[in-house]
Formats: sequence, structure tokens, C-alpha cells
Amino acid sequence: MTAPRVHAFADADEAARAGAALVANAIVEALRARGTCRMALAGGSTPRALYRRLAAEPYRSLVPWAALDIFWSDERSVPPSHADSNYGMACDTLLNHLSVDWRHVHRIEGEIDPSTAAGRYETTIRAAFRGESGVPRFDLVLLGLGADAHTASLFPDTHALVERDALVAANRVAHLQTTRITMTLPLLNDARRLMFLVTGADKAPAVRQVLESITAPASAPAARVQPRDGRVDWILDAGAASLISLHSTVTR
Ligand code: 6PG
Repeated sequence: MTAPRVHAFADADEAARAGAALVANAIVEALRARGTCRMALAGGSTPRALYRRLAAEPYRSLVPWAALDIFWSDERSVPPSHADSNYGMACDTLLNHLSVDWRHVHRIEGEIDPSTAAGRYETTIRAAFRGESGVPRFDLVLLGLGADAHTASLFPDTHALVERDALVAANRVAHLQTTRITMTLPLLNDARRLMFLVTGADKAPAVRQVLESITAPASAPAARVQPRDGRVDWILDAGAASLISLHSTVTR
């Protein structure tokens, strides 16, 4: 596995600005290299600023959004109109402002039974990669990080973290008293590119735990995102990068 590239910026706005450029470049590169781009969006609140930047010029015109297949790395068990919906958030801040081809926007059905939603989403993913052997290889997966070092909806000590076969799982998260639908490690670790966008000093201990732990501690799900043949970028603000040593950052 190649070492992750860590980009640290002065503040969250700078991280969103630079993150938008990195994402747009990765999309254009994938289209140039393979004529297609299968991308998974992150949920939570941190990506909002980056999505708004992608929805504005120059990226609104620069990126051929209609050529993309758009997915989600996880979803909450809520309908798309719910305030907690990752799909809803991405539509509000990004997709509703772009000329995407909605036939190629593949949301996770958070409003139905999570196990059924997970199974249907795996079918949808495999259909988008029809004719390609092995585990589907996303061109780009965007991820966030929780203060407990969870990513997507892969939380510490939860079932989906040890899933080896399914590409998408319904994951019971007891402390949140809910079941999330999430991409699993086998799918994430086959991606060509993954980008973590993390801001805020409250995330600094988790960032250090993930980036500076030689062995991937089982308790840190994000540390187990180690693509077998892919590139990982970490886009951080100063707060999130405040506990990692400078030498692990490539830009500041
Ligand atoms: C979700 C996300 C989750 C998120 C982290 C960070 O559905 O919540 O996929 O993994 O990225 O919880 O969330 P914030 O960006 O809101 O801090």
C-alpha cells in the first residue's frame, strides 16, 4: 500500500477550496484514463463546504458531471427528505446545482429495511460495473472521520467492520440506537482513489491515531482503509492536523 498523502491547510475553508480542486482533478483524470468515473460521496456535515465549491464555477462547467456515476459510501436509516439524509445533503449542496444525469445518481434507500437496502445497493453497484471482473473498483471515494475514528458507517466494534464478502452492509450502531447502511472494507480497499476530508480540532486525536499508528489498531476503522492498489489523500485543516507531526504532511 502506498503511504497516504496528507494535505494540511490553515482552516476549514482553505481545506474545502483545495479539496474541491483535488476532487475535480481526480474526476477528470478518471474520465481521461477510463472514459468513466464511478464516484462515492461522503456524508456527515464536513463535506458541505467542499460540495458547495464543486457546485460553483469553475468546477460546475469544468467537470462533465453528466458522465459520472454517483454513489454514497453510507447512509442513515432515514428517507431522502429527512434532515439527516446524506443523499439529501448532497442534493442540496451539490447535485441540484449541476447537470448530472439523474439516471446515474444511485442513492441508498435509507427509508426501507436496512438489510434490504444494503442488498439492493450492492446489486446496483455491481450493475454499474457490469463486465468488470472482481470487486468493483471505484475511481474515487470520499470519506469523513468521526472523533472515534469511524469512517463511512464503519464504527468501532461493529459487525460491518469484519465483513469480508458483502460490498454493502446494514450495520447496527448500538450507541446511536440505529442501523446504518455502509460500504464495507473489501469495497473501499479496492478503490483507485480515496479522499478523507477532516476538519476541526476535535478530530485531531483520531487523525493521529489513524495516520501515526504503525499497525492499524482494530479500534480505528479508518486505519483499516488501506487500498491494495490505490491512492489515499487526507485533506485536513490546522485543527484536525494539530496532533500529527509535520513530516507526515505534504502541504501546509
Ligand atoms: C455519516 C458519515 C460519517 C461522517 C463522520 C464525520 O453518515 O455520518 O458518513 O462517517 O463522515 O461521522 O461526520 P461530520 O463530518 O459530521 O463530523
